[in-house]
Amino acid sequence: MAEFKEISPNAPVGEKLLNWVDNRFPASKLYKEHLSEYYAPKNFNFWYFFGSLALLVLVIQIVTGIFLVMHYKPDAAVAFASVEYIMRDVPWGWLIRYMHSTGASAFFIVVYLHMFRGLIYGSYRKPRELVWIFGCAIFLCLMAEAFMGYLLPWGQMSYWGAQVIVNLFSAIPFIGPDLALLIRGDFVVGDATLNRFFSFHVIAVPLVLLGLVVAHIIALHEVGSNNPDGVEIKGPNAPKDAQGHPLDGIPFHPYYSVHDIMGVSVFLMAFTAIVFFAPEFGGYFLEYNNFIPADPLTTPLHIAPVWYFTPFYSMLRAITSEMMYALIACVVIGAVLAVAKGKLPQLLKGAVIGAAVVISALMLAIDAKFWGVVVMGGAVVILFFLPWLDNSPVKSIRYRPDWHKYLYAVFVINFLILGYLGVQPPSPIGERVSQVGSLFYFGFFLLMPWWSKLGTPKQVPDRVTFTPH
Ligand code: HEM
Repeated sequence: MAEFKEISPNAPVGEKLLNWVDNRFPASKLYKEHLSEYYAPKNFNFWYFFGSLALLVLVIQIVTGIFLVMHYKPDAAVAFASVEYIMRDVPWGWLIRYMHSTGASAFFIVVYLHMFRGLIYGSYRKPRELVWIFGCAIFLCLMAEAFMGYLLPWGQMSYWGAQVIVNLFSAIPFIGPDLALLIRGDFVVGDATLNRFFSFHVIAVPLVLLGLVVAHIIALHEVGSNNPDGVEIKGPNAPKDAQGHPLDGIPFHPYYSVHDIMGVSVFLMAFTAIVFFAPEFGGYFLEYNNFIPADPLTTPLHIAPVWYFTPFYSMLRAITSEMMYALIACVVIGAVLAVAKGKLPQLLKGAVIGAAVVISALMLAIDAKFWGVVVMGGAVVILFFLPWLDNSPVKSIRYRPDWHKYLYAVFVINFLILGYLGVQPPSPIGERVSQVGSLFYFGFFLLMPWWSKLGTPKQVPDRVTFTPH
């Protein structure tokens, strides 16, 4: 046990109270470590707003969610009506509901921008691998949370969206049909599904999400923040003042706490504008079909997931039986290159060829629908491995060869196109484009160990670049 710190009996009552608490709980220590003495690089830019904004949206979702649960009824017979009741009769219910539905989309906008920042500044690289991995786990949880939340209003899109996605699980060989049954709790999406999704949406996933966010921030504060230059400000060779504080760092509080208020203000202007003037956002945030109660006997003409899932949904739809031949060709070419060019021991070369033969055979034997699910899941799982795929000698995009910037730009455009195609009804041309887009998406990551080493990086400065403003 730490020694009790005595304080003068004449000290102000506030100080005495804090001392009493500090002797029992590390309040001041935590405040110093994570706020007033957490040194963050002084060159943070626009892209560094999104972490604090993600925290803000998390709070908005939890608080509005608590109030929604007070009036919502997770029962297939009355769920839709209870949401209408919230919208029309509960005082301020419409506001709470629109804040929550807009918050879901805002969460993904903010988190996609936050991830993009990590991607361009190499924030996932040593020593921040765990910060990134916790982030990827958060992203997965967020997807699960949004998917299950979407079933709750029990509209046509809730119902049929869940039906389509849960049915995907039945494409898994052997266990698929039983797994889909286990998830639904019934042979079709029904009351049992609604009840379990409600339970997961309001308690199980948020608990995991909160734990992961805490772990994400603890891991970040352990290693310190990266910055747009990718220069380490706390490393053994980094310049420090007499107290050992980094010369290129400033205390998070008050500097960045105040700075973040600006981001919060601008964000809230956009957020409230949408909540008050365009909560459906042209059918993208709240789909029009979802204002029709769920009807198991009427399938909507076009079932599309909400926009934030559509890039991944496009990849799922891209995997047709014809596309399987292209994928098998990729596996064979990959194996041949690994054997011919890679510096592998003889035994491993044999293993690579063996694995390629087995995978190709499985790809021919198992239905393309299953591989679509694998590709969709793989598109998220691959993000976890990013820290070990990037071999560039420099972290930040600022000091990489210029063509890397173009490649990242193409990656973003490709992701947006995939997103757009995922909202559209299937078409032959859309299918072809999403097939090329999916190949590019995976090629970007799988070939990164090779292309990230190419070209001559620019000279990385010793200190962060900062102009007082
Ligand atoms: C609920 C969702 C999330 C919350 C609340 C959150 C919160 C934060 C906060 C407050 C920071 C520090 C401020 C900043 O650097 O912007 C941060 C940094 C970071 N986050 Fe997240 N985050 C979330 C999701 C994610 C996801 C999905 C990823 C990636 C897959 C991610 C990767 C990172 C990385 C790499 C950093 C360090 C950035 C740097 O130092 O340059 N985060 N996060």
